[in-house]
Amino acid sequence: MSKGQNVHTPEEIVRIRRAAAVTAQIRDLLAESVRPGMTTMDVDMRAAELIRASGGKSAFLNYRGYPGNVCISVNDEVVHGIASCDRVIGEHDIVSLDVGVEFDGALGDTAVTVCMDPHPSADIRRLLEGTRSALMRGIEAARCGRRVGDISRAVELAARKSRLGIVREYVGHGCGIHLHEPPEVPNFTGWGGGPVLAPGMVICIEPMLNLGTERIVVDRHDGWTVRTRDGSWSAHFEHMVLITDSEPEILTWQKTM
Ligand code: MF3
Ligand code: CO
Ligand code: CO
Repeated sequence: MSKGQNVHTPEEIVRIRRAAAVTAQIRDLLAESVRPGMTTMDVDMRAAELIRASGGKSAFLNYRGYPGNVCISVNDEVVHGIASCDRVIGEHDIVSLDVGVEFDGALGDTAVTVCMDPHPSADIRRLLEGTRSALMRGIEAARCGRRVGDISRAVELAARKSRLGIVREYVGHGCGIHLHEPPEVPNFTGWGGGPVLAPGMVICIEPMLNLGTERIVVDRHDGWTVRTRDGSWSAHFEHMVLITDSEPEILTWQKTM
């Protein structure tokens, strides 16, 4: 790491690449295993099993006191949902799975939102496809010589096109050796351009988009679960991306996402 610009050494990048691949595989195995009728605690326990089998450990468990192995956010929950034995996943629910794994001193962090309903409504399709494509537009803008704000603008533009509310309180971030490293990567513009992207930087791009307004509330009881204020449903997709001297490299890419 150098100067808060967060350029990783080639040796670090070897380990970060491996941790990201492990995390992405767990994300996809977990996503495949989620079914209506499971509780979110069942999902968390499955995640714990997959993480243990990988030889890594959860990067979220006990992070600032977070009590789960992964974040599981259902429907109007935006991010940081905590597993519960009482929360049964329904046939029409959408479930965001955010997975963080520490492996050999490096970190992976990636999220996907899956839909239990094989025939979702037009609005739910707009939400899921809109959020996923906002992430992909952001990744395409992640090129050396451009600024963090160029990623933000690309994500914002895509979100607007899909008529989705952009959550402002939570942002993407540098990642790799620590879970959250500089720089911040907002999903909106209007704050200046931020640092210039350089080869060796690793960033998490993670749009959190709502069918309704951008406004959110944090659960008063658990202090973690973020929900939309208007009760509208929300989606979250996250990839970890390495800035190179040419194309951005998606470190958490797998066949399924
Ligand atoms: N995975 C989140 C992110 O993408 C951070 C979760 S922190 C936790 O940045 F404590 F809630 F797990
Ligand atoms: Co995450
Ligand atoms: Co993240």
